[in-house]
Amino acid sequence: MCGIIGYKGQRNASEVVLNGLKALEYRGYDSWGIASLSSELDVVKDIGKIGKWMIEDIDLSKSSLAIGHTRWATHGGVTTENAHPHYSLDKRFAIVQNGIVENYQDLKKELVQKGYNFKSETDTEVIAYIIQEELKDKELIEGFRSAFSRLKGRNAVVLIDSVSGKIIGARNGSPLILGVGDGEYILASDASPIVKYTKDVVFMQDNDVVVLNDSYHIINSVTGEEIDREVSHVSWDIKQAQKGDYPHFMIKEIMEQRTTVADSIAQEKDAVMEIANALNGAFGTYAVGCGTAAKVCLAATYAFSSITHKHINFSLGSEFPSYHHFLTDKSLLLVVSQSGETADTLEAIEVMKKRNGKVVSLVNVMGSSIMRQSDYALLNNVGPEKSVCSTKATTAQLAQCILLAYAAADKYDEGMNLLKDASNKLNLMLNDQFCNSIKKLACKIVDWESMYVLGRGLNYSIALEASIKIQEVSYIHAEGFAGGELKHGPIALIDKGTPCIVFVANDDVKEEILGNAMEVKARGGYIIGVSPEDNSIFDFWIKVPDVGDASPIVNIVPIQLLAYYLAVEKGCDVDMPRNLAKSVTVK
Ligand code: F6R
Repeated sequence: MCGIIGYKGQRNASEVVLNGLKALEYRGYDSWGIASLSSELDVVKDIGKIGKWMIEDIDLSKSSLAIGHTRWATHGGVTTENAHPHYSLDKRFAIVQNGIVENYQDLKKELVQKGYNFKSETDTEVIAYIIQEELKDKELIEGFRSAFSRLKGRNAVVLIDSVSGKIIGARNGSPLILGVGDGEYILASDASPIVKYTKDVVFMQDNDVVVLNDSYHIINSVTGEEIDREVSHVSWDIKQAQKGDYPHFMIKEIMEQRTTVADSIAQEKDAVMEIANALNGAFGTYAVGCGTAAKVCLAATYAFSSITHKHINFSLGSEFPSYHHFLTDKSLLLVVSQSGETADTLEAIEVMKKRNGKVVSLVNVMGSSIMRQSDYALLNNVGPEKSVCSTKATTAQLAQCILLAYAAADKYDEGMNLLKDASNKLNLMLNDQFCNSIKKLACKIVDWESMYVLGRGLNYSIALEASIKIQEVSYIHAEGFAGGELKHGPIALIDKGTPCIVFVANDDVKEEILGNAMEVKARGGYIIGVSPEDNSIFDFWIKVPDVGDASPIVNIVPIQLLAYYLAVEKGCDVDMPRNLAKSVTVK
């Protein structure tokens, strides 16, 4: 949610920042902007996506330092005035921000009283002027620290200063990573714009302020003390963050699931067992995530019930604080998050930590806030997920939850064998013929305004997940239901020909879900069965392999493909759907 970047080094800084913003664009694409320092501090900004812009078309001189921003609008509409960077009033410096300043109204009132005239509706402009006020009687770094400490909420800020020629960055709750190259430094919201130049990074921590000059140094924003942070090595490859021959990241990432499920379970057995033991030892476990990750959490509750015979609770990240009454130091949070930066999920962790409970996380981004705040973490191991719509991280997380359920039932090897088999079968399933058949289905149903998805048991959560996939990329209204719920209301929505996807796994709810499919068919619904076996109820059969408890993994993939082809058929912007952004760092 918003991407920020800053570069200082021997390359053309504006070009590095422009290319970096293209890599970060999936985090927000309402508007973009760059500030670069040559003879003076220049700012260029515009609304819309940065994707097509080339350095030659941007009116900025060559320079060795620049900062940039790609925006997902929160405070103020999508206008050039609201686009970042924002200058200080005296134009000495400019800043970019990712996050929300929760106390911005109070700060703004104070600044207005002091005579500041606001040009935008953003909370970012407030930060610029608060810093300017502090600089009246303080040096740059002290003034910056002091202003940053006044901001409430989760924020990351990068500033470019025309007087000292320094770039300063700080984080508190929103991500910021420093890439350490050979005489060059790059600050960014995530590693994707950095890996092109260096794989050595410092994962900045809350209240860290980094100053980039000829070298870099990190200090604590509150105390001003120097901090020595470890330099880590990121394994992600630049190619993994590029589309290659695929037209979209989404289809690339769907196809990568031929191998990523296997990668996700390639973990140290001891690490998995340690988490399994923590789960077994906990009294009150809550699986928590948002959006798609929440659907994985819901699936985990069923997997633990049937495989481990253990009850775990489910909560959306944003709702979890309401459960705080039940938390103790024996409670455990099982957190699922691709980005590792989702604000609602982070808040759930904070709530749990206040009660001294433990946190286990399944995350994709190494060094992310959620990973760092966890007592135990498993990396999803799927490489960067660039499409806003989550696909390969989802199946990796499902596989990890199922593995943990088996491990907690003391059946680690059985779980591994099951998941390896599912991964092999998924690899075989994802062939051209399979994709073409889903494409044909998409062409057949694309004009429907609404579609429904049914599942039961372990695949109820997959029905919910399938509906999110269709909604977010194709903008078709899709809703997932538990098969048994249909007759309590939603069946009234079924009309002649209404597409209805039904997950029919070879499990103990097979007969019931087929019965629910029959109820829809009897009302004229068009039944798309996702199942290892055909059935006369199905109007269209999507054949998936029979993989037992791993059925959610193979069941969601064809619907990811269906959502993709529906979106392509409708001409939607598949990788950057309207109103959305990857990594939701605001509450
Ligand atoms: C949907 C999607 C979102 C995310 C949600 C949580 O395709 O990607 O619903 O799943 O915003 O994000 P993470 O997993 O990064 O915590």
